[in-house]
Amino acid sequence: MATPDGSEATPTFDTSQPTIARVYDALLGGKDNFAADREGAATYLKFVPDAGRCAIDNRAALVKGVQHLVREGIDQFLDIGSGLPTQKNTHQAAQEITPDAKVVYVDVDPIVLAHGRALLATNDSTIVVTADLRKPQDILDHPEIKDHLDWDRPIALMIVGIHMHFHDDEQPDEWVRTLMDKLVPGSYLFITDFVDTGEPLQKAIEQAGLESLGNGWIRTPERIEQHFLGLPLIPPGIDFLERWNPAAPEADVPAAEDLQPYQRILMAGIAKKV
Ligand SMILES: C[S@@+](CC[C@H](N)C(=O)[O-])C[C@H]1O[C@@H](n2cnc3c(N)ncnc32)[C@H](O)[C@@H]1O
Repeated sequence: MATPDGSEATPTFDTSQPTIARVYDALLGGKDNFAADREGAATYLKFVPDAGRCAIDNRAALVKGVQHLVREGIDQFLDIGSGLPTQKNTHQAAQEITPDAKVVYVDVDPIVLAHGRALLATNDSTIVVTADLRKPQDILDHPEIKDHLDWDRPIALMIVGIHMHFHDDEQPDEWVRTLMDKLVPGSYLFITDFVDTGEPLQKAIEQAGLESLGNGWIRTPERIEQHFLGLPLIPPGIDFLERWNPAAPEADVPAAEDLQPYQRILMAGIAKKV
């Protein structure tokens, strides 16, 4: 927001309550968080001592998915719920292969905009916008987002690590459908989510989320598949992050039962609009 002298006002944040973006940053070992967020992260670690490794693995899956999509020819990314900048972000993962790949980061938490702008000050191909996934039409109508992407060419929509923060009663798939409906064939939908295959540690991460943030639900693999709106999943379909590798879907992967329990908390998948 511009001040009367034309300079940018520093956004103010409510630091008394944890936010998802800042708790996640704390779990990743970042510095853009406050005492309430570190308490939220501590709650996660109390229930799931390897919660930080889950966050790191989710970031690794994000990079794996983005780089696969770039190699498939995608050069436009709409990354919703992008989170605070961390070690390797979508634009870095994409632009190290395709330097002029376009990236739009969208997050509801204004702290992401504040920190993202500083990181991206010299990168014309990447923008950060504050907007809400729950209002998908506002995202589609947002002038900066509209202008930055070429809507006549395929776009990868990333909804990575966010679904768990919405209860099924909110029908998050319908927000995603509104966005996907706008994308041309050849576009992709990339999702990671907390999974429920009946394991105690999966239930524990749900309890941690509910205690610290009031959300963070787990879902069956069947329910996660529904997030893809009936679009065909690219190989290997959805799987635990460690086993999921769209670049080499035929490669040998560890058996699910040989993974550590914390490695069975999140699943990833990518679908293609045909
Ligand atoms: C767990 S972080 C995931 C960050 C990143 N996508 C990743 O996977 O590493 C979830 C992010 O979603 C954002 N978020 C939560 N609700 C949102 C909403 N309604 N609209 C947009 N972003 C939202 C949070 O602010 C947070 O930054």
